[in-house]
Order: sequence, then structure tokens, then C-alpha cells
Amino acid sequence: MKRILSGITPSGDGSLHIGNYLGMVRQSTQLAKAYDCFLFVADLHALTTVQDREQLQGNVEELILNELALLGDLTNITFFRQSDVPMHAELQSILNNVTPLGLIKRAHAYKDKLQKQLNEDEINMGLFSYPVLMAADILIYKPDLVPVGRDQKQHVEITRDIAERFNKTFKKKVFPIPEAYIPEEVAVVLGTDGKRKMSKSLGNIISIFEDEEIIKKQVMSTYTDPTRIHADSPGHIEGNMVFTYLDFFGEKEEVVKMKSLYKGGKVADVEVKNYLFESIMKYFKSARERYKELKSNPEKVKEILQKGEERAKKVANQTMSEVREVIGLTNRYSFFRY
Ligand code: TRP
Repeated sequence: MKRILSGITPSGDGSLHIGNYLGMVRQSTQLAKAYDCFLFVADLHALTTVQDREQLQGNVEELILNELALLGDLTNITFFRQSDVPMHAELQSILNNVTPLGLIKRAHAYKDKLQKQLNEDEINMGLFSYPVLMAADILIYKPDLVPVGRDQKQHVEITRDIAERFNKTFKKKVFPIPEAYIPEEVAVVLGTDGKRKMSKSLGNIISIFEDEEIIKKQVMSTYTDPTRIHADSPGHIEGNMVFTYLDFFGEKEEVVKMKSLYKGGKVADVEVKNYLFESIMKYFKSARERYKELKSNPEKVKEILQKGEERAKKVANQTMSEVREVIGLTNRYSFFRY
């Protein structure tokens, strides 16, 4: 079985919305049918921006619950937390030495920040070396594919570069060169404003685990067709976010029917929105139940994470032993074992 690996950073507040679901989680559940999946919560990455104990704890706990609830069945999935496998940080510190400064200076995250701050003293080294930690996350598991959003493509390219440099420097193909996997149709899911990428900070999201009333409000405020003034005038489907979401969450036949009614001016916006709301509640019904169940059962969550950690560590140990050997950290006086 080929292997894939992906991580999610618990920034924001750790909760996932339907944009996150369509962009990442749904794809993981599909890939898990054919691949050996390693999925992790990138808590060390969050430290670049979250530097408050309670906030980090809250974010990470929320993301763990959200992901586990959405994934459901964990067959073929090793789900773990980055900081539970300290070899990620160890490999980062080794990879630092084969990573050219120029390569990292060209990374978007750093460049964008520099443009905003204009002052290097306000940028921490964690943000700067974020791509190197990400390279370590990836390379340690020697995955074939790395499913990511389009905004992370450059990071995977940097990872490939670092892997090649490592292999060349130490004259051994320790790291296979991984490929990014970016499915076209879900690359960017626009928010309820129909303009910008769905994002909590922009207030244009539809939540998954919030109370029904909140989700209903979010659905009702979704951008439809601004040219349509009366319910009986013909409406447009393209760029109409309600139908964009319905394509994912509604029942195919019903959606086809609604589209034709809408175009013919035979159904009101509010009816279509009500259908979207029902569809979303139905689609996420079991995930919402799992969320509640997991939240009231911390021991269960811990058990899942522990199992993930064990499996992840097994692979990480192997790679790191190989790395230590190849770069010459081991010598005739060595006794170290993970
Ligand atoms: N940087 C990614 C993001 O913000 C998360 C991430 C960290 C990741 N390490 C990774 C994704 C390794 C894929 C592989 O979305």
C-alpha cells in the first residue's frame, strides 16, 4: 500500500468548517480507502502564532475532536499529534544544515509576513523555519503523496528540494522525493460571501459542530444571486454559493430539480437555503454525534492518540536511525536507541 501524509495546523480556534472539510478531511477519508494514511495535528507549527497556554490547549483539543469526529472510521489511518513524536523536531534540526538560506527566504509565509511587518525583528525563527519543520514532518514517514491545499504547494516543493540535497550531501537515497497531491475541484472553497476563501476570521463560514441555530443563520446569510429580486424571477446558478454547497451536500436528483426550478423562477431563495441547511445537518449527523460522544469521553480520545503515536513512532524511529547512521552521528562509541 502506498503511503500518504498530511497535517493540519491548529491555528484559529481549532474548529473546522465545511471549507476545511471539503478541502482536506473529505479527501483523507477517500484516500484512506486505497492508501496507508498518516494524519497529524501540527501543534508545533501552531506555536509560530499561538503563544498562549490556554489558547493552544483549547485549539489542539478542539481540532483533535473535530478531525476524529469527521474521519469516523480509522481503518488505514494513523492519527497522531506532532509533539507526541519528538523525532520531527530532531529531524528539523538536522535538515537545517542542508537547507540553503535563500530557499527559505523565498517561502511565501515568510515573504508575506515580511511585507506586512517590514521588520525582521517581529518575525520569529519558528515562522521562518516553518518549511523545514514541514519537510521533517513529511520526510520522516517517506510518503508517496502529500495531500495539501494549493497554498501549501510551495512547502512541498521546498521539501523535495531539501530531500534531494540531503541525499546528495550524504550520498545515499535516504528520502524518496514526495509528490504534492492537490485535487482540482476542492482546491479553493469560497465562503458564504461568494468572494473570498472560506475562513473563520472573515466571518464567511458554515460551521459543522456548532449549535443548529448558528449553522442555520450562517446558511441563511449565504450569497445567492444578487440580480434576483423576486422569488418568481429566474435565478442564476453559477457563482451562487447555495448551489455550490448543494453540489457537495445535497441529494443529486433533488439538486438537479431545484436548479431547474430556480432557473425558472419557481422556487424562492429561502426554500433552497432551507434545503441546504437540512442537507448539511443530515450529511454531518453522525459526525456531530461522534463529536459529542468523544468530547464526553477523554480516555477514548487519549487511547486513539496513543495508538497513533505508537505506530507513527515505529516509522519515525526507523528513519531517524537510518539518518543518524548516514550522517555519521553514530560511531564506535554509540549506544543510543530510541
Ligand atoms: N502547513 C500545513 C498547513 O498549514 C500543515 C502541515 C504541517 C502539513 N506539516 C505538514 C501539511 C506536513 C502536510 C504535510 O496547512
